[in-house]
Amino acid sequence: MDKDLIELGKKNAAIQAVEENVKKNMILGIGSGSTVVYAVKKIAEINQRNPLNLKCIPTSFQSYQLIVENGLTLVSLDQYPEIDLDIDGADEIDNSLNLIKGGGGCLVQEKIVASCAKTLIIIADFTKKSGILGENWKRGIPIEIIPMSYIPVMKKLDKLAGIPVLRMAQAKAGPVVSDNGNFIIDVDFGQIKNPDDLNTKLLKIPGIVDTGLFVGMASKAYIGQKDGTVAIFD
Ligand code: A5P
Repeated sequence: MDKDLIELGKKNAAIQAVEENVKKNMILGIGSGSTVVYAVKKIAEINQRNPLNLKCIPTSFQSYQLIVENGLTLVSLDQYPEIDLDIDGADEIDNSLNLIKGGGGCLVQEKIVASCAKTLIIIADFTKKSGILGENWKRGIPIEIIPMSYIPVMKKLDKLAGIPVLRMAQAKAGPVVSDNGNFIIDVDFGQIKNPDDLNTKLLKIPGIVDTGLFVGMASKAYIGQKDGTVAIFD
């Protein structure tokens, strides 16, 4: 897949979503990942010309830094538990706008912020859109777990017919540690016909903090296409 076309898709989707949805005085959730970077840069550019008076809530340490480095106003859910708009990326988006998220390990805070938002808008490139979850995204469903539950949770995931793999760090010996001090397990369930049902089963396992299945949360998805256009799904 052409990397430049993917980057262009991310950028176009992010810019169009910001231009069409970000309004003055909003409480704004800022997602995590590489596509959101384009959105924050666009917001910062508009804000410099014409101050928007936004209050931004991060979904990870990465997005906290993005907000601060781009001169936007950082606030917390303690102060603003009701969010007007949340803009975030995704690893896969199905026809009903159910999502797989957490490829970057930020799923728990992303889901909390999304759950507080009146509207969740997803921005992504054309490689992320599929008919059914698990069709394109082959790295499994990211699941955040309490570290001491690692072995029992793996065994229970086996029983649910998943193939669980503990996510390992790249520049450190041992597992990835999330922004919340937990581990991440990626579980291959193949193609997921009923994400709501799977999510409910997973959340019943003690030790699982949350899953990267975002069911019925997104209102709209901006998907940057290969030809430079942006397809909107809602
Ligand atoms: C972070 O944990 C994820 O949920 C991201 O939102 C998702 O992985 C999309 O990231 P990219 O924009 O980098 O593809």
